[in-house]
Amino acid sequence: MKNIKDQFEQQGYLILDAFATAEQCDQLMERAMLLANDYKQSDRFSIFQTNNQSATTDDYFLSSGNQIAFFFEKGAFNEHGDLKSDLFHSLNKIGHALHDLDPVFEAFSRNEKTRALANDLGLNNHVLIQSMFIFKHAKIGGEVDVHQDSTFLYTEPESCVGFWFALEDATIENGCLWAEPGGHRTPLRKVFKRKEGGGTTMALLDQTPYDSSNMIPLEVKKGTCIVLHGLLPHYSQPNTSGRSRQAYAIHTIDSQAIYPEWNWLQRDAADRRPF
Ligand code: FE2
Repeated sequence: MKNIKDQFEQQGYLILDAFATAEQCDQLMERAMLLANDYKQSDRFSIFQTNNQSATTDDYFLSSGNQIAFFFEKGAFNEHGDLKSDLFHSLNKIGHALHDLDPVFEAFSRNEKTRALANDLGLNNHVLIQSMFIFKHAKIGGEVDVHQDSTFLYTEPESCVGFWFALEDATIENGCLWAEPGGHRTPLRKVFKRKEGGGTTMALLDQTPYDSSNMIPLEVKKGTCIVLHGLLPHYSQPNTSGRSRQAYAIHTIDSQAIYPEWNWLQRDAADRRPF
């Protein structure tokens, strides 16, 4: 049997069943619910609600790299700016520094097991740079278009590797990941940049189309870890089912690689720490 490093380098992804226990998955989902509840009671949310437009601008997103910030599903608000459903079931994700700022997420992200996995993959200099909790709620959980994670966390040389943990069973019906095996050997299509003077822009690098006919669904059980190469094209469909597909993802980069100032996510070097 090939080792996991060879498998990862060949496919561009790796599926590790039963990486996390059901108890660990439940603990993260309970924690996210608690964070969402705290947010609901907070001034931050009342400000967001009264000033919906400005709170959803680039500034909120761009500063979320150092925060525990809350992002809503596209269809969550009515024309008056009020939530159509309860806050928890309106959330799309929480990001992007859970792994540094929340003790429960930190303990899950940084421990002997994740460290050993990173070492087995030869990611000895990799540091955590981003984390997100994804709700993908029943019926409302939206699609994520085909993309490569390196578009959002660009380094020279390219080094982004993501670790995606299924906290619930992920199936085609509830919007599992789809990926193109071997697609990490194709070029990086786009980079997402901060613009001088504010805002962001998507810059085109390569026009090679994504090969959607070769995308396969990665249906996995609760507790599975999917490792994703930064160049691997992947996406997920909307959740049309009656149950959620919660997941937690962390992204890592090589600390020795060049990290441009124009990447959307900017963190001090001291905040880019290993597993
Ligand atoms: Fe992604």
